[in-house]
Amino acid sequence: MLNGRRILLVIGGGIAAYKSLDLIRRLQDRGAEVVPVMTRAAAEFVTPLSVSALAGQKAYGDLFDLTDEAEMGHIQLSRAADLIVVAPATANLMAKMVQGIADNLATTLLMATDKRVLIAPAMNVRMWEHAATQRNLKALQDDGVLVVGPNEGDMACGEYGHGRMAEVPEIVAAVENALLNGPLKGKHVVVTSGPTHEPIDPVRYIANRSSGTQGSAIANALAGLGARVTFVSGPVTSELPGGCEIVQVETAAEMLSAVEAALPADAAVFAAAVADWRVASRSGSKIKKDGSGKLPVLEFTENPDILATVSQLKKGRPQLVVGFAAETDDVMANATAKRARKGCDWIVANDVSPETGIMGGAENAVTLISKDAADVWPRMSKTEVARKLAERIVGAISDG
Ligand code: CTP
Repeated sequence: MLNGRRILLVIGGGIAAYKSLDLIRRLQDRGAEVVPVMTRAAAEFVTPLSVSALAGQKAYGDLFDLTDEAEMGHIQLSRAADLIVVAPATANLMAKMVQGIADNLATTLLMATDKRVLIAPAMNVRMWEHAATQRNLKALQDDGVLVVGPNEGDMACGEYGHGRMAEVPEIVAAVENALLNGPLKGKHVVVTSGPTHEPIDPVRYIANRSSGTQGSAIANALAGLGARVTFVSGPVTSELPGGCEIVQVETAAEMLSAVEAALPADAAVFAAAVADWRVASRSGSKIKKDGSGKLPVLEFTENPDILATVSQLKKGRPQLVVGFAAETDDVMANATAKRARKGCDWIVANDVSPETGIMGGAENAVTLISKDAADVWPRMSKTEVARKLAERIVGAISDG
């Protein structure tokens, strides 16, 4: 099943576009949400109205539609998907993908995405067999683009041969294969993310500046490799990952309970910025100024350390436990000591000094510290860090 998965369906301009209407239905039957994007040529074959009626949402079309940009920018549209499917993928679309041409919304999304792309080519047999298309096919496959079809058969143009778009059930199977049969298939990973809020009274709380962006990207990357991901998130305004089981919590104590309830797991990644303390003298009613000039005094007590608790489990410890170390001074020394103290396998260390712009920003510069090594990764997007980390996790826990 594809429950909770979001598929961005790019419909190209070919006669096979009519099959994309059925494809939307069949993907929805499997539980997926389908966000349709049509090229201008596609709208010559099927109407945006039919597409949006079947998808149950707007069919995106023009890059320069200001309402779309305000509602959901093209970058976000491509990031919010778990997989991009191009069906039909015309010879023209394939050529543009190879060259990195971004001259409409569909091709811009294909350039801006950080997700895998599956294409279902459809074209006349001569066009398919043309050296240019075959070169492009090879280039796309080398770039990691997945391909389903085309099949051999009668064509709308009256010729016979290769070029018919794969049938809808074949495309659905390829989508499921791409989303569910990754190297982490059958593995369960728990990811914590975001800040925790520790109440002072019913209206006030103590928090930190974590945005949850890195944790969300890690969950996305792991789910994209086929893992079953339980995503335990503190209160965030950032986008939650797709294709994961989401458990929303507020406090550190709730986060620990949610993590314990989610175990057993093959791996756990603790990316949350958990508050170290909670208010022991938490008031059941709103603390008022009493006019005496006497200031309230907050007393704190230590929160449970989720990373240390899970790392030191005698029974049911995940095979791989990964923690984060957000430091402002002596990053390496502090993070190395933290790994040993907490008992986790890896620590992803980063410098969160304000001048780095990492906390709340889109980039990260990390060092992956394990028992025997410290790998310094260059500064890159949080999505790239997530991908790299997910690949390392594959190496550590996959059976293959
Ligand atoms: N962590 C946790 N539970 C806590 C505190 C931290 O699970 N109560 C986890 C974080 O998710 C992160 C790692 O521990 O993976 C490091 O957290 P950090 O706050 O950087 O370290 P601290 O243990 O708080 O150490 P210090 O305050 O000395 O930096």
